[in-house]
Amino acid sequence: MSTQKAKVDHLTAVMSGGSGGGDELLFGTTPVSALADQVSTPFYAYSGDAIEARINRLRSALGSDTEIFYSLKANPSLGICQLMANKGVGAELASIGELLLAKKAGFAPEMIIFAGPGKSMEELETSITMGISAINAESAGEIERIAEIAARHGTVARVSLRVNPAAALKGAQMRMGGGPQQFGIDEEQVPGILDRFSGHPNLQFVGIHVYAGTQMTDAEAILANCRNTLEVGRAVSERIEQPLQELDFGGGFAVPYFENSPEFDLDLFAAGYRELIKEAKGETAFAGTRFIIELGRYLVAEAGVYVTRVVDVKWSRGKKYIVTDGGMNHHITATGNFGQVFRKSYPIAALTHLHGDMEDPAAVVGPCCTPLDILGQNLELPAVETGDLIGVFYSGAYGYSASSLAFLSHPTPAEVMVYRGNTHVLRKQGRPDQVLDGQIPVQM
Ligand SMILES: Cc1ncc(COP(=O)(O)O)c(C=O)c1O
Repeated sequence: MSTQKAKVDHLTAVMSGGSGGGDELLFGTTPVSALADQVSTPFYAYSGDAIEARINRLRSALGSDTEIFYSLKANPSLGICQLMANKGVGAELASIGELLLAKKAGFAPEMIIFAGPGKSMEELETSITMGISAINAESAGEIERIAEIAARHGTVARVSLRVNPAAALKGAQMRMGGGPQQFGIDEEQVPGILDRFSGHPNLQFVGIHVYAGTQMTDAEAILANCRNTLEVGRAVSERIEQPLQELDFGGGFAVPYFENSPEFDLDLFAAGYRELIKEAKGETAFAGTRFIIELGRYLVAEAGVYVTRVVDVKWSRGKKYIVTDGGMNHHITATGNFGQVFRKSYPIAALTHLHGDMEDPAAVVGPCCTPLDILGQNLELPAVETGDLIGVFYSGAYGYSASSLAFLSHPTPAEVMVYRGNTHVLRKQGRPDQVLDGQIPVQM
């Protein structure tokens, strides 16, 4: 069996909660065709049960001394955020929009942290007045701005430092720590910056955050980074002569999107990580510290499918093309146009003929008039016809919100979540006339 087919089998079992079996993709017991009748294609379908299972699995692996935070950038749909908040997961966010979403979703202020460079005065002010758990400061200038706003409001802002470590960080496919960076405060600058907090009436120092990067598959490399983060934490605690309130290890656990992608071994990581935490908890530097791991794609990618409908099947000089009603406009990451170095296909399947006999290799392409709009090449798929459903798996993260939804002015896709037997429409499909929203005709 090809690894793509094995992946599709695994992912269909994840969606159905294990029952799988039939020829149609099920979300729990709800057939994907029923969802397509309800919201019309293209749409994103998420399994709330799969997300819940992932949270539970992470919790039991990492242990009760660690809090899991959800990076909203992976999928900021309100319904997904509500599920996270309901499950007691925290929110790691990076814009005022995400802050408002987190509030609406029901995350308590003490369960919210705000990281990311270039925070505006409005973002800082809203974070301070909401009393979120920590603004992870990315520069000395940002700390000055926070202090000024907090003073204006006669309040005390809670601030962590996002530290860019001196040690080389390992393992990330997209590195966001170590060396010169637009992210965080260089470790060498940290002692001087900490001194500004001491006795400051409007700044409360909370702790540190280190984010090595994303798509990390090597459990040992992530562990080495965690060890280094604890070292940085020890030095900071010594300098402030207090334990840290919070220590955020980052995360970046990878998702095996492509054929032959290596798998991140959660159990291997967790075994080493729990040892580190056990040791740290015995130290004064970490007495009462909240340990945080923040994850985006690892929590939601596997739980989502982008569902499109076949609008045409055609041949060109011996090559078969399946043309669908959605593509890179709705799901840019699956087409490899979001900064990926190699163009590879996410697992793709005919959702109502899961076990049909494979036909000639085909390309699945979207309706955007560019050769970049390719969801997959040389795919082994059963015979499909106009009207059949094609699904792109691993689409729960960096799908809707990462895409250039206005490209080619198609309506935006709907989003649906099936959770505990109920179907929730999270977002309606856009209407064609919304292309004119906010546009002001020129008076000629
Ligand atoms: C600071 C920070 N935290 C968390 C994430 C989420 O990464 P992932 O979705 O790979 O878990 C990112 C992604 O860029 C990030 O910049």
